[in-house]
Amino acid sequence: MRPYVVAGNWKLNTDVKSAAELAMGIRDGMQGRHRDDAVRVVLCPPYPMLGVVRDAIAGTVIGLGAQNMYPEDSGAYTGEVSAPMLRSVGCTHVILGHSERRQYFNERDAFINKKAHQAFAHDLVPIVCVGETLEQREAGVTSSVIDIQVRQCLAGLTAEQVRRMIIAYEPVWAIGTGRTATPGQAQEVHAAIRALAAELYGDETADALVIQYGGSVKPDNAADLFMQEDVDGGLIGGASLKPDQFLAIIAAAAERSGS
Ligand code: PGA
Repeated sequence: MRPYVVAGNWKLNTDVKSAAELAMGIRDGMQGRHRDDAVRVVLCPPYPMLGVVRDAIAGTVIGLGAQNMYPEDSGAYTGEVSAPMLRSVGCTHVILGHSERRQYFNERDAFINKKAHQAFAHDLVPIVCVGETLEQREAGVTSSVIDIQVRQCLAGLTAEQVRRMIIAYEPVWAIGTGRTATPGQAQEVHAAIRALAAELYGDETADALVIQYGGSVKPDNAADLFMQEDVDGGLIGGASLKPDQFLAIIAAAAERSGS
């Protein structure tokens, strides 16, 4: 059985004090509830808050993730953050290729692929984001857009690595808009991603691959999304900043997984 993974992408929000409070609220709300591995939770605060969040979740099963990184170990790359740095601060995961990075920072699949290799080289689990724009969906090219993104972002990765990574399907038109993909729309793309993984790496790897849905996941739509066969959790933006909402989404995943 694949685990459910619920990750909170805090984006450009919080400061040291509010990040610690948010992490403690989530930690306390999870206490005694999810001791097994059926639902995994990862918090992805901005870089300066990684340390306080790490301290708040120390000794728990909650993972720590960054929202991005640069694909070099060190060097003259002013303003960038490396995989070894993220490891040294306690990260287990890193979000790569989020649509906001693609949109505002011009990130392309080849660069995201380089980062995915770098993440594995440093034992970080990459959460690689793919998704179509509204224009692409309306033009009927969603499946080819996703196919190209997945192929290019995964290029050169081994089956063993793909079994450990996470792909987040995030339709760009659903992010931060309050407009969620219907469970059927999400399932259709998730199934296509899994079928592509099977074609590239075989059934066993495709079965093990965790595919999250992201884009306006809220407590009231999480259960329906998580009911879909190929939806293995969520990458949560806005609702991850409110402990009650984030905990309710975790509870929906736990219920679905039977834990
Ligand atoms: P949202 O963001 O839940 O606020 O739509 C999701 C994401 O961008 O990861």
